Amino acid sequence: MTLDNDFARLSDFEPMRSELTDIRRHLHAHPELSFEETETARFVAEKLESWGYEVARGVGGHGVVARLTVGAGKKSVAIRADMDALPITEQTGCDYASTVPGKMHACGHDGHTTMLLGAAEYLARTRRFSGTVNLVFQPAEEAGAFSGAQAMIRDGLFERFPFDAIYGLHNHPGAPEGTLLTRSGPLMASSDTVEITITGKGGHASRPHLTIDPIVVACTMVVSLQSVVSRSIDPTQTAVVTVGAIHAGKAANVIPETATLLLSVRSFDPQVRQLLETRIRKLTESIADGYGAGIRIDYERGYPVVVNSVKETEFARIVAGELVGADKVSTCHLIPGSEDFSYFLEHKPGSFLRLGNGVNSPILHSAKYDFADENLTVGAALWARLTERYLV
Ligand code: NI
Repeated sequence: MTLDNDFARLSDFEPMRSELTDIRRHLHAHPELSFEETETARFVAEKLESWGYEVARGVGGHGVVARLTVGAGKKSVAIRADMDALPITEQTGCDYASTVPGKMHACGHDGHTTMLLGAAEYLARTRRFSGTVNLVFQPAEEAGAFSGAQAMIRDGLFERFPFDAIYGLHNHPGAPEGTLLTRSGPLMASSDTVEITITGKGGHASRPHLTIDPIVVACTMVVSLQSVVSRSIDPTQTAVVTVGAIHAGKAANVIPETATLLLSVRSFDPQVRQLLETRIRKLTESIADGYGAGIRIDYERGYPVVVNSVKETEFARIVAGELVGADKVSTCHLIPGSEDFSYFLEHKPGSFLRLGNGVNSPILHSAKYDFADENLTVGAALWARLTERYLV
């Protein structure tokens, strides 16, 4: 029987605070974009090797996976942190600001990486678990279409480093530092992009009867698309269909040949996501057909919905409550942003949490954003305790 105080506590990480802060600020000053995380990966891998981990480099690009088995336990858990930065010019004015023009850690992935490194150091030093921990340092979370999570999965993540469940977290501007937010089921949205090209028949503005006007077709589509969410989606579900761009024509006296619409489509349920695609295709195809216009639809599926499994989320909620106090753990609202951790959750049980980055924190992807260093010990202690509790 293991006593509660045998598991990692916040106070165990106080002695590491200044070292973790140094690591985080080093990473912050040297941001690397998706697919370019060479130095970050090397920095991470060297630290993990020095602590005695079995380290695999180059997993799905610049991904690093560190494995440590202690005792005879058969269970295996994975924890993931993302490593990449964004093409943004930093405006924080802080003394550890980005040294690379036009690139910055504006999403806090420097903090995510540092917290997992903190847990790694602690777990290797204390070795108070029985089983296997897999620390997944993922590249290219911000990549969009083919991201780091997909690349690591394609490179054999699940086969080469078998695990039973996977956990991850993202910092959360708007919630107080040191608070944790969990949610079972859908947490973050799927995000799809659609390009619709309408081909009509161009001609003189004074002879519309000799043309097929793609602008009229496009405008009809824009209006009709407003009915997809309101008339086809269950009102207890949430979805967004936004026409973010409409391009056609150059002159008042010319009916153009083509018109293009760009759509952003978001949802929190895989079935709703499929229904949205079906309805958008049918509606726009039938409108084009009705006008005698041609249509091409490029429906690009982005990141899927982040769906947290119930059991693993409940476990994370309990561990979080033990660590920071139940009053600092709350249920997260649905987040309309997307996250490629969803690809891991399509295959494995697990949970994605949010860690408050301060009520006055600038929003993610802002040039003024900065990760709250106060949280470094919280995240590191969370991953250490969760590992110890999972691998008892
Ligand atoms: Ni992010």
